[in-house]
Amino acid sequence: MANQLGKLVSIAFSAAWLILVDLLKITTGSTTEAEALLSWKATLPVQPILQNWVAAAENNSSPAQSPCGWHGITCDSAGNVIEINLAYNDLKGTIENLGFSSFPKLLVLDLKYNKLTGSIPENIGMLSKLRLLDLSTNSFDGTLPLSLANLTQVYELDVSGNNIVGGLDPRLFPDGANPSKTGLISIKNLLFTDTSLGGRIPSEIGNLKNLVKLALDNSRLYGPIPPSLGNCTELSILMLSDNQLSGPIPPKIVSLRKLTVLSLFINNLTGTVPQGIGNFSSLIILNLAENNFSGQLPPQVCKGGKLENFTAAKNSFTGPIPVSLRNCQSLYRVRLEQNQLTGQLDQDFGVYPNLTYFDLSFNKVQGKLSPKWGASKKLTFLNVGGNSIVGGIPDEILQLRELGELDLSSNQLSGELPEQIGNLSALSVLRMNNNKLSGPIPAGIGMLSNLQYLDLSMNLLRGSIPYQIGDCFKLLSLNLSKNYLNGTIPYQTGNLFALQALLDLSYNSFSGEIPTQLGKLTNLITLNLSHNNLSGSVPKSIKDMLSLSHINLSYNRLEGPLPDANIFNSSRPEDFSNNKGLCGNIQGLQHCTSTTGPGGRKKNHRTVIIVVSCLGSSLLVSMALTGILVHLNMKRSRNTSKEEEPTSKREDPFSIWYFNGKIVYKDILEATMNFNDRYCIGEGATGKVYRAEMQGGQVFAVKRLWSKVDSTEIEDTKSFKNEIAALTETRHRNIVKLHGFSSNRMHAFLVYEFMERGSLADMLRNDNAAMELNWPKRVEVIKGVAHALSYLHHDCVPPIIHRDISSKNVLMCSSLEAHISDFGTARFLEPDASIWTTFAGTYGYSAPELAYTMAVTEKCDVYSFGVLVVEVLMGKHPGDLISKIQTLLVESSNVKDILDPRLPPPKAKKSVDELVLVMKLAVSCLQPNPLSRPTMRSIAQFLDD
Ligand SMILES: *[C@@H]1O[C@H](CO)[C@@H](O)[C@H](O)[C@H]1NC(C)=O
Ligand SMILES: *[C@@H]1O[C@H](CO)[C@@H](O)[C@H](O)[C@H]1NC(C)=O
Ligand SMILES: *[C@@H]1O[C@H](CO)[C@@H](O)[C@H](O)[C@H]1NC(C)=O
Ligand SMILES: *[C@@H]1O[C@H](CO)[C@@H](O)[C@H](O)[C@H]1NC(C)=O
Ligand SMILES: *[C@@H]1O[C@H](CO)[C@@H](O)[C@H](O)[C@H]1NC(C)=O
Repeated sequence: MANQLGKLVSIAFSAAWLILVDLLKITTGSTTEAEALLSWKATLPVQPILQNWVAAAENNSSPAQSPCGWHGITCDSAGNVIEINLAYNDLKGTIENLGFSSFPKLLVLDLKYNKLTGSIPENIGMLSKLRLLDLSTNSFDGTLPLSLANLTQVYELDVSGNNIVGGLDPRLFPDGANPSKTGLISIKNLLFTDTSLGGRIPSEIGNLKNLVKLALDNSRLYGPIPPSLGNCTELSILMLSDNQLSGPIPPKIVSLRKLTVLSLFINNLTGTVPQGIGNFSSLIILNLAENNFSGQLPPQVCKGGKLENFTAAKNSFTGPIPVSLRNCQSLYRVRLEQNQLTGQLDQDFGVYPNLTYFDLSFNKVQGKLSPKWGASKKLTFLNVGGNSIVGGIPDEILQLRELGELDLSSNQLSGELPEQIGNLSALSVLRMNNNKLSGPIPAGIGMLSNLQYLDLSMNLLRGSIPYQIGDCFKLLSLNLSKNYLNGTIPYQTGNLFALQALLDLSYNSFSGEIPTQLGKLTNLITLNLSHNNLSGSVPKSIKDMLSLSHINLSYNRLEGPLPDANIFNSSRPEDFSNNKGLCGNIQGLQHCTSTTGPGGRKKNHRTVIIVVSCLGSSLLVSMALTGILVHLNMKRSRNTSKEEEPTSKREDPFSIWYFNGKIVYKDILEATMNFNDRYCIGEGATGKVYRAEMQGGQVFAVKRLWSKVDSTEIEDTKSFKNEIAALTETRHRNIVKLHGFSSNRMHAFLVYEFMERGSLADMLRNDNAAMELNWPKRVEVIKGVAHALSYLHHDCVPPIIHRDISSKNVLMCSSLEAHISDFGTARFLEPDASIWTTFAGTYGYSAPELAYTMAVTEKCDVYSFGVLVVEVLMGKHPGDLISKIQTLLVESSNVKDILDPRLPPPKAKKSVDELVLVMKLAVSCLQPNPLSRPTMRSIAQFLDD
């Protein structure tokens, strides 16, 4: 109250003061300026930014009033408005009612980055003193008013990022016959990027003698580049890319000796490029890509030694690599791919300290991949595929630690793959297919943990696939076909859960059986094992490969019945032809008789079934708890028959493991001093949590369950084992890892990954911690939780429903990454009791339908996630607000009002927009009807975009 009173007093005071100033100065026009602004404001929606644009006290008899203190208004010493700057303000409405005639002294009108609509009014030409007009990034439509020609003082006109149509009228520009009198004669920067302008570039543009920057990119222009542009000799930046311009580059362009940026990519330009362009000593960017240019590239393109970005990709350039490129140390990005350039890779290029991107693919370049390339250390992308490069792969290439993509495919490379290839740890794409590489695939390939695409096909590679390939767990596509590889297919290939597009091992000499573990590749679409020596039967697990749409097993020695999997119903006979004795109920194969495939039957019988399997989980749960490997007691289901023992000795990854080791038990008791309270770090509904630091220094969170679990009782419960197995195998960066479980007559506890920063709920409660969680970090937290839930719902078979998402169950690691915890385990407490079905999540997070139905679906998690998102943005649980949030947020400007007040509101418009979108997403999760809520997968994808 007192605060408001204070405000009123100060407003009244400043109003009085302004009136006094006005009276003293006896200004003319300022009254009408204020009135013009107020009557414009009256036509706009109410918006906070114009809050202090208010009339002087209503009963004030004096008509004099000044807008000089108003937001965005600047006056000169005489009290005339000289600047209206409302940029970056989310301003809505039109400027059609802004009375321009009232601002005879206006120098600057800056309205960029708002949400203004409507046309640019004709009377804008009244602003005859205007020097800067920036209307960019709004939603203006209509044509450019001809009256703009009246703005003879304007040096910068920016209408970029609007829906303006109707072309550039030649009458806007000075008249060739009388150039000093009319049109935009003072213009230096003429900016029309990203509009719908259309039409041709008028040759009158060449009369703009002061032009420094002309940006007409992505504005639907067609026709030729006017030769008159060669008269704009002050031009430094010329951006005409992304239009439909045709014809040649006018030769006169070589007069533009001050050019620093010439950007012509994505047009329909033809002919040769004037070679003199290369002589510009200030050139920083030359972009000619995606036209129909022919002839040679300018040889002196880097004469000034400043060239950073040079692209000429996707044209028909012939002839040599420009000679000046060899010593062009300033290069940052080079794209010359898809031309017919000739040259020597080891002679025409040098060492470039700043080069990040180099693409020379699909040209006619010869020579070797010289060791020099290892010295351009910033390279993230190197593609010289599709040339005629010979020789080996130099070890120096392995020094490119930032390299994300290396493509040497379709050349004549020979020699072996470097053993230290694993040093390229940032690599996500590695293509060396279609060369003459020999020798083995190095085991170091398993160190490429970021690898997504690996293509070594069509080489002369020998030996077996190193089992370490299974560590490349991000692989989406793996092609090793058409080599001389042999041995068995390592079962670890089944750990490549991300595999999606392709697994192609065809045309090699692989022998032995098809590993059952391939069944875990539930995302894989195409599997080609044809033309090998594979024997035995086709594993039943193929039917677990839910995404499989193409399979080719032909030309092997497979026998026995095809498993009962859908894929085989849609396959062609030739995908199975030329085997030893495959049978099945599909066209082209003999029917199975009772005597067919003795081998196959037995093996299928031996399969140990795992009920729950998750993408990305590792089935071999190695738990080095203390530095010494902990004894793990492998538990097997009771009906295990004797003949299966050898399988278990070989650590068959399909066996089920969980903690029961005495050593673990002892170590945990030691580390927590027999569950002494001094190590207790939290307490929940299911038990107390302790911090356990092991002798090796590793720290775990151990949850000791309140109720003791009867282990003998549990051992009978097969599903319990499956659950534990699934939970220990669940491996996702946003899920707290469950390392194991131990239970005996005294204690039952779960061993988890330790999360240094505690729960999200704790962090949001603490002001300092909440401040640390700034807006970008909060968005990351939301993304992390979304990804974890998407994984549980969509990548686990059967899906895992968390059932209790709340800020207490989101734990934070030292780098403030969110991990969801505590799911699935509660039901072990009393396996037979009905506690689980009656449990309805944490109050304030549970979906409304749980009040009247027991049908727990994924959509319950989606609802709780929605609450969590609102909580993260508000900084506290929304409480009753949750029911109103839908109506509260019709206006996106309201989002700002509910954001956590402890954090400064985000400044950039992009960040605000992001938060608005996230909030809208949350609202969609809170739909009362579960069917209307989005899936976690679509939410995760949406957040990634
Ligand atoms: C151009 O400016 C003059 C004042 O310099 C003004 O009288 C005239 O109306 C303006 N023309 C247009 C089309 O706005
Ligand atoms: C360029 O300017 C000269 C005069 O400076 C003029 O004679 C010529 O016509 C102009 N060229 C074009 C193409 O407009
Ligand atoms: C590009 O130019 C060619 C002729 O040079 C013409 O056939 C083609 O239609 C043009 N394409 C576009 C998109 O203008
Ligand atoms: C060169 O191109 C890259 C990628 O398009 C861009 O990020 C960079 O800003 C460009 N360099 C300059 C000097 O504009
Ligand atoms: C490389 O980039 C840095 C930072 O942008 C710059 O200072 C340096 O001059 C560049 N080196 C060359 C050779 O251009």
